[in-house]
Amino acid sequence: MLKGQYYQNPYIYNFLTFLKLWKDCSLRFEIARANVEEGQSVLDVCGGTGRLREFLPSGCSYACVDASSGFGPALLKQGIKYIQTDLHNGVDIKRLKSDVVIMVVSLYQFRHTSMHDLLESFKDIAKKVVIVEDVLPQGKVEKTLKKKIINYLCAVEYFQPLELFSAQEFKDVMRAHGYVCQEHGPRYVSGCFVS
Ligand SMILES: C[S@@+](CC[C@H](N)C(=O)[O-])C[C@H]1O[C@@H](n2cnc3c(N)ncnc32)[C@H](O)[C@@H]1O
Repeated sequence: MLKGQYYQNPYIYNFLTFLKLWKDCSLRFEIARANVEEGQSVLDVCGGTGRLREFLPSGCSYACVDASSGFGPALLKQGIKYIQTDLHNGVDIKRLKSDVVIMVVSLYQFRHTSMHDLLESFKDIAKKVVIVEDVLPQGKVEKTLKKKIINYLCAVEYFQPLELFSAQEFKDVMRAHGYVCQEHGPRYVSGCFVS
């Protein structure tokens, strides 16, 4: 019954994410927000239910790109510009010029498909690109049962079951594309590119 619902139903996504992250539930957005100035336009790639918008400085405009057909209606209802596209096929979002491109806890999903293309294409969309990733502590692997549950909940046609990056793997990818890395406690690492 819950198969695929994590990436289809915004209420289930927000509720389960809240249970998972608890008091740190907003941290990933606060890390991203620190890179945005008042009045800038922000493109949130793999923006999910669009919660990043609540954290942006005043006067910012916000658009969300994601493959979910379930999140779109709720976003459009809130007046959010929503572009539905499967990013495994690369990006046709160059037309979406923005001041800042942000991607939160999503890059790992593309590590065997379009990851390198995405990291380069984002540079054509915005002068600043910010990637925030939830990383595994060095030497730790995700528990099999946890992975099975996540894969079941996320089972939509565009989702590819994959491991999170370790902190070092993520930093290596970021640096290879000229992004500057910063650690934010044990859970998050960000990569920032400014042209
Ligand atoms: C872990 S969620 C992160 C959502 C949001 N950034 C956040 O932090 O709450 C990953 C998001 O990536 C989207 N996604 C997964 N695969 C995708 C694909 N191939 N193309 C576009 N979006 C995809 C999912 O629909 C989901 O909204």
